[in-house]
Amino acid sequence: TFVVTESCIKCKYTDCVEVCPVDCFHEGPNMLVIDPDECIDCTLCEPECPVDAIMSEDDVPEDQQKFLELNAELAQQWPVLNEMKDPPDDADEWKDVKDKLEYLER
Ligand code: SF4
Ligand code: F3S
Repeated sequence: TFVVTESCIKCKYTDCVEVCPVDCFHEGPNMLVIDPDECIDCTLCEPECPVDAIMSEDDVPEDQQKFLELNAELAQQWPVLNEMKDPPDDADEWKDVKDKLEYLER
């Protein structure tokens, strides 16, 4: 499965959602996640993200392993998003910031 990782937090550019053939992106207040039960590993979304937030579960770095669990958990709670929308006004200010997990809103 593919996983949305930390870079998405407070950026949420949504370029990723329109290419997904099975609509498995779910939208929270300031991040998207992928439902691991729906993802068919097509790889189409990975190059779409301008901040490289999306990766195969096999490529998730050690310090971001918690996002595997977070994608699975939050996909059950958040609604599907399958059309692009405007990112937050300050998205560009957050795109190079690291360690954003503390800012994740649920
Ligand atoms: Fe959707 Fe394919 Fe990305 Fe999985 S890999 S989330 S199926 S676009
Ligand atoms: Fe997030 Fe990248 Fe999609 S910032 S919303 S994973 S395009």
